[in-house]
Amino acid sequence: TQVYVRGMGGERPRVPVAPERLQEAARAKLSPADFAYIAGGAGAERTMRANLAAFERVRLIPRRLVGSRERDLSVELLGRTLPTPLLLAPIGVLESAHPEADLAVARAAAAEGVPFIFSSQASVPMEGCAAAMGESPRLFQLYWGTDDEVTRSFVRRAEACGAAAIVLTLDTTLLGWRPRDLDLGHLPFLRGRGIAQYLSDPVFRSRLEIPLPAPAVQPPRTPALIRAGSELAAKGRAFGLSPSQMRAAAARFTATYTRPDLGWDDVSRLRKWTRLPILLKGILHPDDAREAARRGVDGLIVSNHGGRQIDGEIGALDALPAVVAAAGDLPVLFDSGVRTGSDVAKALALGARAVLLGRPYAYGLALAGEAGVREVIQNVLAEFDLTLGLLGVRAARDLGPGNLAPPSLST
Ligand code: FNR
Repeated sequence: TQVYVRGMGGERPRVPVAPERLQEAARAKLSPADFAYIAGGAGAERTMRANLAAFERVRLIPRRLVGSRERDLSVELLGRTLPTPLLLAPIGVLESAHPEADLAVARAAAAEGVPFIFSSQASVPMEGCAAAMGESPRLFQLYWGTDDEVTRSFVRRAEACGAAAIVLTLDTTLLGWRPRDLDLGHLPFLRGRGIAQYLSDPVFRSRLEIPLPAPAVQPPRTPALIRAGSELAAKGRAFGLSPSQMRAAAARFTATYTRPDLGWDDVSRLRKWTRLPILLKGILHPDDAREAARRGVDGLIVSNHGGRQIDGEIGALDALPAVVAAAGDLPVLFDSGVRTGSDVAKALALGARAVLLGRPYAYGLALAGEAGVREVIQNVLAEFDLTLGLLGVRAARDLGPGNLAPPSLST
């Protein structure tokens, strides 16, 4: 009801409620390159479409005359009770959406009681976001690059920031092939965007004096490149780095942030480095779920990175049931294609413990900063609550196969 009242009263909604209109409004607000970076996917974007198509195919089926006035949206995760089954996915380079970037998202997440997963490629150091969140839950998403000492330093910092878990992302051991960015020649990192965790890291900074081999390709000095260079220099100043140190930092970041040969033994090493719970993000194959269980991790996140990594891979929701079946006692979280409260209900009915909201909150951020993120969260949760009520389900944790129409009945 609050959402309707807000729309009727003087207080106009700041963000469109319908997901397509939300995305269109963000497109109109952002520069083409910034919008492309957020909205785009790998290759012909078949997997991005498959993520949404998978949600289209799954249908809910309500029971009548068993509804309740109040619904309990809470779920148990990693030994704590979350007020709702929603978390905010780690999204890098949020300064592409809004100058306040991760800080605005951290405040919005704390205000709405939704955990925020800090990205390794954040635009604001994790310490700043943690300070903005008070006691509200936060997690840290780790990209494991080629420098183990930097990785360990990130983990130590996450522990010091009160992170509730380390989310190790497994699907970005190489950056995906993203035609929208390639066509625009837009790689934000080369402008110094999305590398704040590194610029603020003592171990990474201690590496800056060590020369790297010269890059294979030297770009021509075009006006666009000179503009990118001045943005880079300004970023450097904010972190107390001279223009040449900042160039070295951006080069070192691009040379070291991915690790194509990351292996299962690294997961076991991480297990020894930290007592924090470990969630593996990007699991799609049931055999990987079984291996993860053997390695002593604490949970899995079924995700295909929003279709940004492999064109033509399985729609994330299509992968969920088999991973849930293989995961045994491990909680399984889900992302990639969650747009509405009804989507949250579908993912939970298919066995997800909770879901991560991705692009929609970035669009809310683009449109109205902290307030925009809050509205997007409120809209998803309001629709989720309503959907439970209409399905005749009293508590989020009661969702299950019985709430799904058998495939033979769905279209
Ligand atoms: C991402 N995602 C991501 N994941 C991660 O583990 N670390 C990161 O830094 C990022 N960065 C990032 C940037 C942008 C612009 C997007 C859109 C996504 C993936 C993210 O966590 C999540 O898996 C997807 O966003 C889910 O897909 P949808 O639902 O947003 O389409």
